[in-house]
Amino acid sequence: MQELAVDVHMLEEFERGLDPRYPERSRIPARVLGYGEISTVFEIHAEGMEGYAFKRLPIFKDRDEIGPYLASYEEYNRILSGEVGISLPPYGHAEFVSDSGRPVFFIIQKQLPASSIGNQAIHVLPDEEVPVLVTMILRELKKVWDFNRQSDGLEVAIDGQISNWSIVDFDAESPHVDEDTRFLYMDTSTPLFRIAGVEQLDPELFLRSAPSFLVWMLRLLFLEDVMTRYYDFRLVAIDLIANFYKEQRAELIPRLVETANDFFAQEAAYLDIEPISEKDIASYYREDRIIWALYLALRKLDRFLHTRLMRKEYPYILPGNIKRK
Ligand SMILES: Nc1ncnc2c1ncn2[C@@H]1O[C@H](COP(=O)(O)OP(=O)(O)OP(=O)(O)O)[C@@H](O)[C@H]1O
Ligand SMILES: [Mg+2]
Repeated sequence: MQELAVDVHMLEEFERGLDPRYPERSRIPARVLGYGEISTVFEIHAEGMEGYAFKRLPIFKDRDEIGPYLASYEEYNRILSGEVGISLPPYGHAEFVSDSGRPVFFIIQKQLPASSIGNQAIHVLPDEEVPVLVTMILRELKKVWDFNRQSDGLEVAIDGQISNWSIVDFDAESPHVDEDTRFLYMDTSTPLFRIAGVEQLDPELFLRSAPSFLVWMLRLLFLEDVMTRYYDFRLVAIDLIANFYKEQRAELIPRLVETANDFFAQEAAYLDIEPISEKDIASYYREDRIIWALYLALRKLDRFLHTRLMRKEYPYILPGNIKRK
């Protein structure tokens, strides 16, 4: 596939004028499309940038770290879209070192309509079609585990969250999904895959956005979990359904648990996945919510320490308070 490319100087200019605290006040105006734990997705209002989504990753210590990451990123995209058969939006990347000496990596993707993204679509789809949507996403995910089963020595992970999928040709005015609906998977910035059992992504990259006073603890308590959960279909499905709490559609969860269990018992029977219970979803969500709320609060403290006390640059863009049930 032809890689997307934009004028790197324009991105450098964007970075130069970026206000990480208030991105919309940046010198080159931008609008945040989505916040991640380690990244932020923007649209940038400048000539030549129209129609793209830019995912900014300021996690690298030096330029030498970008090479291996880029290699993993490209390989992951290639495996997912080629061998696994999951469709991706057209993509590319850009990288440079900012004026302050910080290496920055941008993932460039074709911008997809906000209303087509799963977490928005579930608010307009008829309730009885939401289980269809979830079944279709499980079917996409199953491609990964089918691939892993038959490939020798190569194992791929995926984060199946509802907000990572865009529904192709979705019409929010007359919302509908069925067995023919197609999807694009957007969240390719965490290229997790193992060769002969060895993880190819440097796990330390995950810790970069964490406050330095927490790194040792996160390494000890959570890193292993984050690095392995996306290889486990059952956990990925639990995570997908637990999203319905965060999206204020918890009333759908009992039906979706049934949907997933039917899927595991029928289409995916040969993968031998233990059924999920509503309790699994609830306890997973409770834990997840506490962890991320605490983590965000500590990152804000870290930002305060950096910018106010140490008068240093703080490169990460933090979300405001996320509305969660
Ligand atoms: N190509 C795109 N077009 C439109 N919106 C996008 C695009 N890519 C991402 N977004 C928006 O940004 C949100 C976050 O993007 P993405 O899922 O890639 O990262 P994340 O999960 O926030 O990041 P992280 O992996 O750092 O936790 C998406 O849910 C979507 O709303
Ligand atoms: Mg995501």
